[in-house]
Amino acid sequence: MSENVIYCFSGSGNCLDIAKKIAAGLGDTDIIMMRKAPAITDAKEAKTVGFVAPCHAGGLPLGVEESIKSIQIAPDAYTYGVVSYSGYTGIGLSQINNIIPLKYWAGISHHCSCIWLFPHSLMMPMMSVEDAQKRSAELASKIATDVAARKVSEKTVPNNPVNAVENRAWPGLAGRKADAFEVSSECIGCGQCLRLCPKGNIHMYGGKAFIGSNCIQCLSCLQYCPKGAISIGAVSKKRERYHNPNVSPEELMQPVIHID
Ligand SMILES: Cc1cc2nc3c(=O)[nH]c(=O)nc-3n(C[C@H](O)[C@H](O)[C@H](O)COP(=O)(O)O)c2cc1C
Repeated sequence: MSENVIYCFSGSGNCLDIAKKIAAGLGDTDIIMMRKAPAITDAKEAKTVGFVAPCHAGGLPLGVEESIKSIQIAPDAYTYGVVSYSGYTGIGLSQINNIIPLKYWAGISHHCSCIWLFPHSLMMPMMSVEDAQKRSAELASKIATDVAARKVSEKTVPNNPVNAVENRAWPGLAGRKADAFEVSSECIGCGQCLRLCPKGNIHMYGGKAFIGSNCIQCLSCLQYCPKGAISIGAVSKKRERYHNPNVSPEELMQPVIHID
């Protein structure tokens, strides 16, 4: 196992881009993806253990808390958490902190990937894709420096009770939203969405993708579709798609990414 480990969930690539940049700053890092159950849960040999995840409906994406509960770390490991969000950090860091106490935490506002709710240009404050990327890269590099210096956060993790209420309603809402997926005649049956789906929820029939209801709303299928053929509700048909320019669909599919 590498000296540094980062557990990462990412749907449209922002968090994986942040994790890669932190890893590049630290060197010798395994990024272990949590889009499904993590491939490695025994991280007892790692000196630093980080968590990078987006805010979904005020908290961690579905399944991430369960993944974190399965992880074992050394008692003296340095721990940190980073949440990427568009408007507010939510309670994700507090959810991680309740399972694995965090010594250091940070939030990074980035483009909104929740296409059915807001256009992707929504973030704090609004800015271009290029400027948001630049800011994200600078913050990730600062986080790497802080982690290398074993910095300890003075403030406690954000824990807004309004976000907790929002996040409690999320499993039901995510299930209902899943029924709104549509695949248009633009679908060329390339199968990328099927390979990307962490839940095995997409199947190919007659050369066209069909999306079932077992969906955690990572929206990777929709955001990375090369033909823009996947939508979720009428509003999303018109909205521009977004995925992080530095993260390919193939990278998102990897269970573990090693950075020297
Ligand atoms: C289903 C879903 C729910 C989201 N909910 C929130 C939210 O409650 N608050 C917020 O600020 N951003 C929210 N976002 C935006 C993401 O947190 C933000 O775009 C993040 O950078 C995405 O990271 P990723 O590209 O690694 O998936 C949501 C995104 C998705 C897909």
